Amino acid sequence: MDWDPITHYKDVAVAERYDRERFSSLSGRVFNALERRLIRRAFRDAPAGATVLDLPCGTGRFTEVLLQEGFRVVGIDISPAMLAVARRKAAPFGARFEGRVADVRELAGREAKRYDVALCARVLMHFPLEEQIGFLRGVATLTRGTVVFSQSYDSAYQRLRRGIKRLLGNQPPANYPIGESQLQQLLAGAGLREVRRLRLLAAISEAVYIIAEPV
Ligand SMILES: C[S@@+](CC[C@H](N)C(=O)[O-])C[C@H]1O[C@@H](n2cnc3c(N)ncnc32)[C@H](O)[C@@H]1O
Repeated sequence: MDWDPITHYKDVAVAERYDRERFSSLSGRVFNALERRLIRRAFRDAPAGATVLDLPCGTGRFTEVLLQEGFRVVGIDISPAMLAVARRKAAPFGARFEGRVADVRELAGREAKRYDVALCARVLMHFPLEEQIGFLRGVATLTRGTVVFSQSYDSAYQRLRRGIKRLLGNQPPANYPIGESQLQQLLAGAGLREVRRLRLLAAISEAVYIIAEPV
């Protein structure tokens, strides 16, 4: 497999068409709306006015939701191209958004816990478990409280769905979905414990969102 989630998203053309490609069809719009609603639910107990770390923020899909909810947001991404799109989306919210180009692997350990809560969405499934743990630990290291993260949840049913999608030539599925025991390893390795779990239409999506606290 030569697809690399780090270099891929640094391409300006990829970043500029990211939202349109994924979320402009009818099913894409429905999925995006449901996922944005789920993010609102996941952060409903976060303190008003808290600073949320959105890492990686990508094109700011969820940054925008969090800003609409009244939070301050620091969006970090390794790709300047993805962050440029996020900055445009966040512009109406002025100084409540700060964008930073950085690699989570370099931030971790260099900066103390400075954000109140964090979101780590739609990235872990691109990496093998050890790297997922490193990524999520990095996010947790920067955060004082709740960390919300997503993964693709593996099960016999989801394996069947993935196989059918592959046969139909649909968008490549997650490379590294995880089952329950790997999810527990991910939490433990990142120094987190699960508080709540939210599923996004389990019949048609692998996405699971875990709301976790530092151990
Ligand atoms: C699929 S996008 C998801 C973005 C956003 N959370 C969303 O759900 O729309 C994954 C993002 O992870 C970023 N990324 C990958 N590795 C990273 C790293 N080591 N540090 C920071 N960002 C990274 C990529 O640049 C890309 O923008």
